[in-house]
Amino acid sequence: MRALVRETRLHPGALIAPLFICPGEGIRRPISSMPGVFNLSIDEAIRDAGEAAKLGIGGFLLFGLPESKDEAGSGAWHEDGIVQRALRAMKRERALDSALLIADVCLCEYTSHGHCGMVRKDGEGHEIENDSSVELIARTAASLARAGADVVAPSDMMDGRVAAIRSSLDDADLHDTPVLSYASKFASAFYGPFREAADSAPQFGDRRSYQMDGANRREAMREIELDLMEGADMVLMKPALPYLDIIREARDRFDVPLGAYQVSGEYAMLQAAFERGWLDRERAMMESLVSIRRAGADFIVTYFASAAAKLL
Ligand code: PBG
Repeated sequence: MRALVRETRLHPGALIAPLFICPGEGIRRPISSMPGVFNLSIDEAIRDAGEAAKLGIGGFLLFGLPESKDEAGSGAWHEDGIVQRALRAMKRERALDSALLIADVCLCEYTSHGHCGMVRKDGEGHEIENDSSVELIARTAASLARAGADVVAPSDMMDGRVAAIRSSLDDADLHDTPVLSYASKFASAFYGPFREAADSAPQFGDRRSYQMDGANRREAMREIELDLMEGADMVLMKPALPYLDIIREARDRFDVPLGAYQVSGEYAMLQAAFERGWLDRERAMMESLVSIRRAGADFIVTYFASAAAKLL
């Protein structure tokens, strides 16, 4: 009876697994704050992705750990960059045909200072420059799409980047590559473990000059609206669990595909409780995912993607 009248369902096709790709071969480096998540070299990533694809997972979100970093994050748009290489290799794998390859578009993994854009010295302090960053981000998106990304997903939160990415894709004849914009992204403590995984912690300051204040719901709606006007095809909201009200409001307002990102801190928090035996692993994992769907997300980016798909 419960199954018959259930209002919200989970299915593997609605789950996206993040992948952290690093240089080398045969590398599978654990991330201490995210048990079960690894930095993977391309060959290992292909193996894991193949298994996840067999479970019917919807796709993968790719992040890269470059060999070296610089002030401008040039590794992000390098034709032979780490994610570009991974995309080309993954596109050759028949076993991954069914899975969508989404490339995260940001500079923070590639800049020596760890910010998502260009930094200008400003007296004693620093400024993150919006417009010069947008140019590099647009260049990065085109490079990733050219390498094989099915979707590009800008996560930097600079103003105007969706329009810039759209025209940079169109100029490169990549008219069919959709933009999944992280339109509603809050400056959150829950990204902590990710910055270990992606080696992207800012070396000074924080991300509050470009990511949103967690107290602001109306601002989140305005950010989404602007990104849609600029040409975003889909919207990603994050974090998920602490912001379910934002997901619900976006669902009620906007008739576009909507995803939510259950971020690293949400995963770490649950894992820590599982390790202590304080929460039931399967039930808590599934409940968290159903809640995000119930709030209105069509799809979920989650480090639980494979584990949940297995259960489903
Ligand atoms: C890059 C980016 C971040 C995340 C996704 N893309 C980190 C940040 O903004 O600091 C966080 C994902 C997670 O915590 O799992 N800008």
